[in-house]
Amino acid sequence: MSNITVSPDDCTRCGGVCVKICPVSIISMKEDKLPKIAKDLEDKCIKCGHCENFCLFNALKTNFEGDYPLSMNERAADIKPEQLAKFVQTRRSIRHYRKKPLNRKLIEQMLDVIRYSPTAANSQKVKWIVVHDPEKVQEIAALTVDWMKTEVEKRPNHPYSLQYNGIIRRWGDWARMRSVITHPTSLSPQYRKGAPGQRPTPIIALAYFELVAKGYGIASCWNGFLKIAMEEFAPMREEMEIPEGYMPSYALTFGYPKQRSTGGAPKRDPLSIKWV
Ligand SMILES: Cc1cc2nc3c(=O)[nH]c(=O)nc-3n(C[C@H](O)[C@H](O)[C@H](O)COP(=O)(O)O)c2cc1C
Repeated sequence: MSNITVSPDDCTRCGGVCVKICPVSIISMKEDKLPKIAKDLEDKCIKCGHCENFCLFNALKTNFEGDYPLSMNERAADIKPEQLAKFVQTRRSIRHYRKKPLNRKLIEQMLDVIRYSPTAANSQKVKWIVVHDPEKVQEIAALTVDWMKTEVEKRPNHPYSLQYNGIIRRWGDWARMRSVITHPTSLSPQYRKGAPGQRPTPIIALAYFELVAKGYGIASCWNGFLKIAMEEFAPMREEMEIPEGYMPSYALTFGYPKQRSTGGAPKRDPLSIKWV
């Protein structure tokens, strides 16, 4: 079945915004000048919804499943470029969090926005694992330390062995260490194994998440320990319940911030650009 329906009364035969906008070029105009998808191309549709989203006359509707979070006539909130720049530049990695737990509904609300981060060929195949239950958080943190122990045993000259040994030594001091490892909530998006172009998709989603979370007053930090432990340590993969056929991409720890920055932004290296 065709994924689009066109209203002949509303279509202005504008000459084909929908035809040009389709990223897989499956929409064409026939003699009646109405856009159509040829039968043999119907299964090539990636369900991105651009044909519907860019038709300014609301003449084209998509038939595939999904919800609309906004009305098609919504205009993007008027954020000035300087405001957006400031918002992005003042995001900081926060490594210490208040004890106050995050509400599940709020986490879901933030992830719901992230459904709109770009995904390779609109695959939308990111699966999220949220470690939120306090006991599970502690188990994941403990397993991270177990993994560090195996690392320093295997490779005493590991570039991070000083850091790992420090964490292993202080691990009994849970109240202090939980911030560093997973407290209070960790998030890890997974990507489908073997599917082309999927690897960066969950990382992009996480980068979006950090910014959306900041909008809600939630702080975060990328968690390299958990990422590597998920990749290299089978007990961690088991504990995280990574779905069959999926690969862990990265992890992020987030919660209410314990610390606040001045509001400005620290120094950074100058831009490095090569124009070609
Ligand atoms: C891919 C990636 C991995 C990171 N891994 C860790 C990590 O394992 N532990 C940590 O404390 N911070 C981690 N960070 C945070 C960086 O240290 C941080 O982004 C950087 O110091 C700049 O600080 P800012 O984010 O506040 O601007 C990571 C960041 C990225 C993008």
